[in-house]
Amino acid sequence: MSADGFSSGPPPGAAADWTIDQGWDAYTADEHAVWDLLYERQAAMLPGRACDAFLHGLDALNLHRGGIPEFRRINEDLQKLTGWSVVAVPGLVPDEVFFEHLANRRFPAGQFIRRRDQLDYLQEPDIFHDVFGHVPMLTDPVFADYMQAYGQGGMRALGLGRLHNLARLYWYTVEFGLLETPAGLRIYGAGIVSSRTESIFALDDPSPNRLGFDLERTMRTPYRIDDFQQVYFVIPSLQALLDATLEDFGALYARLDGASDIPIDRVEPTDRVFTQGTQAYAAAKLRG
Ligand code: PHE
Ligand code: FE
Repeated sequence: MSADGFSSGPPPGAAADWTIDQGWDAYTADEHAVWDLLYERQAAMLPGRACDAFLHGLDALNLHRGGIPEFRRINEDLQKLTGWSVVAVPGLVPDEVFFEHLANRRFPAGQFIRRRDQLDYLQEPDIFHDVFGHVPMLTDPVFADYMQAYGQGGMRALGLGRLHNLARLYWYTVEFGLLETPAGLRIYGAGIVSSRTESIFALDDPSPNRLGFDLERTMRTPYRIDDFQQVYFVIPSLQALLDATLEDFGALYARLDGASDIPIDRVEPTDRVFTQGTQAYAAAKLRG
């Protein structure tokens, strides 16, 4: 993901496009062990929860050959599959840098891994979130095209002052998206598949709303970065998601200019409701 507020260039040691060497040789044995632990935990829980595209991608990339995977090795497979590659960055990068990478089918991934006391939650995306969470989906040709289109659309939204709307689309699809399948709802969002607790909450907990994805509705819905989501949006297929975003957003952005946000826990009469959530989890949190 990207971060606002950078006005200066890349940090010392980074290239003009903010990429750095992964520095694979410098990971410690304990850092490799943290990857293995996270990998095993998530891989065990995801069959029947993550969508097929994710599970196939995870298999195809073989990210579990012992320790933190080397980007050079991942890229040999990923390039052949969809022409994407993973590049290392120091952490969050400016929006325009992030979009430029995506538009060129490069996924910027954090180089560092979380500490052992942060297995379940950390604020910044690390290599486990970025590589385990995001990269398997990039092996899917349709999702691969969606991510590239998002990068191109990001630059445009930035110029039009609608990035806050487009960021919601990213959040509710790339990070926290659910997919409808004949076997039930499945996860494709990286923020869910890389989280032990949210991979259960997102599908099983009675608290959140689960609503049919609608482009404009999604862009009008704020999101939370600090806790489980209060609403998840469900797409009928990856192709439907790509199709919905291939249209020119000009008219949509013009409509959004005068539109109000939809409260995060609201179910609208026009929503297709998969789950009308109790919102009990969020309410309990508020009470403290
Ligand atoms: N179609 C969008 C536009 O015209 C670009 C876009 C594509 C945005 C895919 C997000 C995802 O701006
Ligand atoms: Fe992410």
